[in-house]
Amino acid sequence: MTEKKPPVSRPPAALRSARWFAPDDLRGFGHRSRVMQMGYAPEDWAGKPVIAILNTWSDINPCHAHFKMRVEDIKRGVLQAGGFPIELPALSLSENFVKPTTMLYRNMLAMEAEELIRSHPVDGVVLMGGCDKTTPGLLMGATSAGLPAIYVPAGPMLRGNWKGKVLGSGSDAWKYWDERRAGNIGDEDWLAIEGGIARSHGHCMTMGTAATMTAIAEAIGMTLPGASSIPAADANHIRMCAAAGRRIVEMVREDLRPDAIQTRNAYLNAIAVAMAMGCSTNAVIHVIAMARRAGHAISLDDFDAASRKVPVIANIRPSGDTYLMEDFYYAGGLRALMKQITPHLSLGEMTVNGRRLGENVADAEVYNDDVIRPLERPIYAEGALAVLRGNLAENGCVIKPSACAQRFLKHTGPALVFDDYPAMKAVIDSDDLDVTEDHILVLRNAGPQGGPGMPEWGMLPIPRKLVRQGVRDMVRLSDARMSGTSYGACILHVSPEAYIGGTLALVRTGDLITVDVPNRSIRLEVGDAELTQRRAALVPQPPRFGRGYGFMFSRHIQQADKGCDFDFLETGFGPETGEPAI
Ligand code: FES
Ligand code: MG
Repeated sequence: MTEKKPPVSRPPAALRSARWFAPDDLRGFGHRSRVMQMGYAPEDWAGKPVIAILNTWSDINPCHAHFKMRVEDIKRGVLQAGGFPIELPALSLSENFVKPTTMLYRNMLAMEAEELIRSHPVDGVVLMGGCDKTTPGLLMGATSAGLPAIYVPAGPMLRGNWKGKVLGSGSDAWKYWDERRAGNIGDEDWLAIEGGIARSHGHCMTMGTAATMTAIAEAIGMTLPGASSIPAADANHIRMCAAAGRRIVEMVREDLRPDAIQTRNAYLNAIAVAMAMGCSTNAVIHVIAMARRAGHAISLDDFDAASRKVPVIANIRPSGDTYLMEDFYYAGGLRALMKQITPHLSLGEMTVNGRRLGENVADAEVYNDDVIRPLERPIYAEGALAVLRGNLAENGCVIKPSACAQRFLKHTGPALVFDDYPAMKAVIDSDDLDVTEDHILVLRNAGPQGGPGMPEWGMLPIPRKLVRQGVRDMVRLSDARMSGTSYGACILHVSPEAYIGGTLALVRTGDLITVDVPNRSIRLEVGDAELTQRRAALVPQPPRFGRGYGFMFSRHIQQADKGCDFDFLETGFGPETGEPAI
């Protein structure tokens, strides 16, 4: 298991980039003269691995603000190891600013990453991402492209701070917003919270989608060991960037490609890690899509099986009640967490540093066992996610039991149905809304087709009149996603979605719905004959887009249980693309 693959040192002529730069012909002349136009001499590139650095920096992505500097550290590492770095900007996908949702564009980034790699004279690639969808987008593209690749995670931002209180991304925004709606927080304090909740560059520092997905990238072996836990503002992050630059050059020489790393077991490891972390529900969609790119049929059942075995041991908000990613790093980080859950991992899987996962975590230590708990003292005994099925979700839906009021795990209540997000928003704060805390709030037409793009609308606001009565959790059901920093009894990702005629489209206000998490079921308590009648009256919905990227999206997006990839982007779809003609 601990055997290291002997490095295969490839002769320079075997480099893919040599097809551009080596031939003594007119094309070769063109490529060489244009590199020289930038001031490089043959000593800079000839015979050297050319390393693409896919940089998802932008002026409006605070999570990646430091990438403008970090890319220079990666280049430094590439140069030290004898490679030739070229930076290629890629779609930034800033979670907060891109509307209607970055999920609409995850596959666009995946396409861009794949084609940037394929079309340029490069031998290996460093992927710079971190903000939610950038991790799966970049990895999906790099997996399909197939060249040696290493992932550089942005790292979490520092803890938030307001009046000496620790603030967590997202989670505390929702929490204090409810207090503000209830009239408990004034303008001045609200402004101070706005200024204190995000204090440095880096991605969200709760266990949201970003921290979940970068941990998953590390667990499948695509980052240097420990990389995903380093805070963005820490000097160790700079050193990690340079080390990744050095390592990718070696990976090219060893011809260590994603397919040698991303085995089925590597994905099962990632799922176990996700469970132990108390992961974002978004992980389900992204991991399924990533695994399918790598040729593995990972499904919702793999998540449910892992969730029954692997307890949540990372005491990070929102599943935990106190700590954030900065604390997780000081407590030993992901390597220490993986050490704790070794009974649930396959330790023989290869990783980007050329070593097996088991070797990478062997000497890891937990420095604070309240943050990273032992398996015997978890913060939640069963895993982070449960997959429910029933007549309301034939192909499944998910809930995060670790982050909701436990009395809702078995619950029957009347539906209060909203046909779309604006309809919900228009009435949710009205004082005469006919709603009790036992109601189940249903939002539909918020899935991949209906949203469109499956926005993070699944944590529906608690109706204001109930907030004022002190209600802080209710059962909510939708075909939407929710932010990984969200919490509550939110049932998400209903598949098939309402917009394409899933049973969710047939629910009426007042119908009873039964949620039974221990038995993994969700039922609309309406007879089959009545449902058949309602279905017959259903008018099919037109595609949301008539042109542009959305036109392609509407025709090719798959449902949540399949990972929402475009059908034609899956690596096995059609004959291999092959190398470009030069
Ligand atoms: Fe970028 Fe949360 S907004 S990770
Ligand atoms: Mg998010």
